[in-house]
Amino acid sequence: MQIGRFTRVGFILAAAGSAVGLGNVWKFPYMTGANGGGAFVMVYLLTILGVGVTLFLAEVAIGRIARKDAASAFKDLAPEGKKGWKWAGFVVITPVLIASFYTIVMGWLLKYIVASLSSLPTSVKQAGGMFGGMIENNPWEQVFYFTVAFTITFLIVSRGLIKGIEKANIILMPLLFVILFALMMYAMTLSGFGEAVKFLFVPDFSKITANSILAAMGQAFFTLSLGVGVIMTYASALPEHDNLFKSSVMVAGLDTLIALIAGVMIFSFTFHYGLKPSEGPGLIFVVLPSLFGDMGLLGNVISFLLFVALVFAGITSAISMIEPSISYMENYLKLTRLKALSIVGAVVYVLGMLALISNVKDLKSYVTFFDLGFFDILDKLTSMILMPVGGILVAIFVGFVMDKTKLHDLFVEFMGERFFNVWLFFVRYLVPLCVLIIMVNNFLA
Ligand code: PHE
Repeated sequence: MQIGRFTRVGFILAAAGSAVGLGNVWKFPYMTGANGGGAFVMVYLLTILGVGVTLFLAEVAIGRIARKDAASAFKDLAPEGKKGWKWAGFVVITPVLIASFYTIVMGWLLKYIVASLSSLPTSVKQAGGMFGGMIENNPWEQVFYFTVAFTITFLIVSRGLIKGIEKANIILMPLLFVILFALMMYAMTLSGFGEAVKFLFVPDFSKITANSILAAMGQAFFTLSLGVGVIMTYASALPEHDNLFKSSVMVAGLDTLIALIAGVMIFSFTFHYGLKPSEGPGLIFVVLPSLFGDMGLLGNVISFLLFVALVFAGITSAISMIEPSISYMENYLKLTRLKALSIVGAVVYVLGMLALISNVKDLKSYVTFFDLGFFDILDKLTSMILMPVGGILVAIFVGFVMDKTKLHDLFVEFMGERFFNVWLFFVRYLVPLCVLIIMVNNFLA
């Protein structure tokens, strides 16, 4: 089947839409808070530059040269005798697993949009009760919001790569920028703003530990949607004449910018109200709503806008998680799009329900294995094992297996000879080494 083509802006927004997600607006701020601020941010930025952009370009190369889904791409680009590489196409399964629990978190965000329309909790304790009550005691409410998030995601993907995914990104991404920008402007008027900027940008190297370095590297990897076939699949629909290097750097730049804006904004609120930045994952679901609840009507407006922005960020990422497997089933297995969507939809829904149940107090024992709830199993399996393995496979494939002249022809006019060689060196040695270190650390931690 012929894959449609993105426009240039369409590709940048779609890839940035995938990259900018809950990872930027939720995970990055709380991880920065928990890991001491500026020094963590510096390692994160360096990793995005060294490992992130390198691997991003490698995935762009595979997708753009093959112009096919991930599994077909590995197969087509592997030289004779190495066709076993087609099995590396398994990476398209990883984002389906991620989507199963990601959609649940999107459901929580939808609930918080609705909650922003009435009275918000006014203390951290009350806010904690609201959050805990929702995920531990209220399965039906969660099933409802999860189903809504699931339906929105699959409806968009069902309309296809261009009419569904590109269009959704062209609408939602600018809206997301506008909302975050407006919130940032407001944050600049708060007394906590200066402290927030200092916290994020003035590194205190005494706070750096081996663990915070590795956490920053892992986060850089997750935030660019690497190692899961997403960037490959989107790149297969790149327009014919596009400066791939410039587009890729723009995507990584936008992703980083949004994470930093979200961080400054969230910490401005946190410091303004004298709260600690190191609250962990509850930062956005517990700490912020309690601040907003204290601010009266303006707080409701800000809360509403923030959670809408988060949902937009989530939707554009969730749709990118589904497309690689759909594209694989359509092109490689020759299924109709509807059939492919039904199969992937059933998997996401069933796994999602099991993950949801694993947070519910009275039911969790049914879906807890080796002391880990199913939600955490999906999270850990994907981020600690499957994503890094996918990343290493991409790096080895591009660095050592694929035809060098094809890569050279694709990139050299945009990068120049010298930079091309540096990039190739990074793909071959730096990326596999860094990813391996992250992985081993994840196991030991
Ligand atoms: N990059 C997304 C985020 O930061 C997450 C993601 C992972 C999206 C894998 C697609 C694939 O939230």
